[in-house]
Amino acid sequence: MKMGSMNQFKDQSLSFTKKLLPYVIYSLLPIALLRLYFNPLPFLPSTETELPHSNSITITSHSSSSSPSAEKVRTLETHCDYFNGKWIRDKRGPLYNGTTCGTIKEGQNCISHGRPDMGYLYWRWKPSECHLPRFEPETFLQLLQNKHLAFVGDSMARNQLESLLCMLATASTPNLVYRNGEDNKFRRWHFPSHNVSVSVYWSPFLVEGIEKSNTGPNHNKLFLDHVDEKWAKDLDQMDMIVLSIGHWFLHPAVYFESGSALGCHYCPGLNHTEIGFYDVLRKALRTTLNSIIERRGRKGSGIDVIVTTFSPAHFEGEWDKAGACPKTKPYRNGEKEVEGMDADMRKTEIEEVEAAKTNAIAKGFKWSRLEALDVTKLALLRPDGHPGPYMHPFPFANGVQERVQNDCVHWCLPGPVDTWNEIFLQKIKKWKHQPRSEE
Ligand SMILES: *[C@@H]1O[C@H](CO)[C@@H](O)[C@H](O)[C@H]1NC(C)=O
Ligand SMILES: *[C@@H]1O[C@H](CO)[C@@H](O)[C@H](O)[C@H]1NC(C)=O
Ligand SMILES: *[C@@H]1O[C@H](CO)[C@@H](O)[C@H](O)[C@H]1NC(C)=O
Repeated sequence: MKMGSMNQFKDQSLSFTKKLLPYVIYSLLPIALLRLYFNPLPFLPSTETELPHSNSITITSHSSSSSPSAEKVRTLETHCDYFNGKWIRDKRGPLYNGTTCGTIKEGQNCISHGRPDMGYLYWRWKPSECHLPRFEPETFLQLLQNKHLAFVGDSMARNQLESLLCMLATASTPNLVYRNGEDNKFRRWHFPSHNVSVSVYWSPFLVEGIEKSNTGPNHNKLFLDHVDEKWAKDLDQMDMIVLSIGHWFLHPAVYFESGSALGCHYCPGLNHTEIGFYDVLRKALRTTLNSIIERRGRKGSGIDVIVTTFSPAHFEGEWDKAGACPKTKPYRNGEKEVEGMDADMRKTEIEEVEAAKTNAIAKGFKWSRLEALDVTKLALLRPDGHPGPYMHPFPFANGVQERVQNDCVHWCLPGPVDTWNEIFLQKIKKWKHQPRSEE
């Protein structure tokens, strides 16, 4: 990737340039770093905007009526705002360890790669207004009995999935029943004890895309009005979906809509208009959520959709030096606010979840539950939870190297991402007491 010049941005308005700058810088990180994004997955939230992020809306329609006015829409009491809170010490430590689980991606298995400090494992998230219980694998499996839960997205989706599998495996052993694709990008497990299926689908844009490659174009191509059928073809078999995307949108890309080029992000030398990536992320989510509603809104028993919000990266200083994310403790509450790109990514995701709820109601579709899993803030406060140089085994076995690759994007397992699934479980528990229909 050539650095190129910034001249192309000169004629843009100041505010646009200010918005653009963080992700231009981001996209200029050396290509070695981009490899990170081919493998794992993450999420996170912001504080500066007042968003309706924690309300759950249950959309109920009477199946005998097709009139939207006949629908009953209930905005339910918020049980807890998981977004605001702080990390507090917890001497209990994680539910699992990396040696017994069997499903942890090598690059996130920090303990087995020789990460020396263990303090990062002894924290728990304390929401301001309530208590977040420890993960209960047996409860999770019971709630998902006879169901199929699919994680769809990029490597952050995989990171969350692997955390969940490790925690569930402490209660019941899953069988890997399907795997396909380079790097096992498509996998499915079955828990015979509860007839629960859990799967992961690689789809870093959710919409149709052609990923850049060494042999092909050096930018991604996205088709914003077509959902990616690699996962969507199985929609009728899914009962619950966790969507997690974001980081891949920072890379150079050309965008298409309605059969023609819409613009690009960081594509010097190509005759396309720079349009940034926030609106592109918005369109991709809109296409995705609307496709789910349209395909599942009228038939079957409905579907539950969770959108995990953006998980900030924590690179400090030079990305290829030993301590690119050297902190070993969480930030204190108030020490760091969700801002800039992290805030904008999160806001876009939450707004699209709200828009999709409104759309589902307006179309008179059968109920489906849509909610954001707002992890942006709790992730932002955990600079200590990434593999850093321990994405590779024993990186300092031969002394400190001049250059070392760091992963300050994904999360060590066990690690902070386990908390995403604790909140996920609380949402599912709450849903159980708020049925989607009068069954
Ligand atoms: C990992 O967990 C298993 C099962 O709980 C336990 O038997 C084993 O001793 C643990 N390993 C380490 C290194 O703590
Ligand atoms: C097991 O779960 C699947 C959904 O994942 C369902 O289609 C099937 O009917 C279930 N089997 C039994 C025996 O309940
Ligand atoms: C760039 O695109 C514009 C508008 O589509 C077109 O008029 C122009 O000829 C193109 N320039 C080149 C060098 O292809």
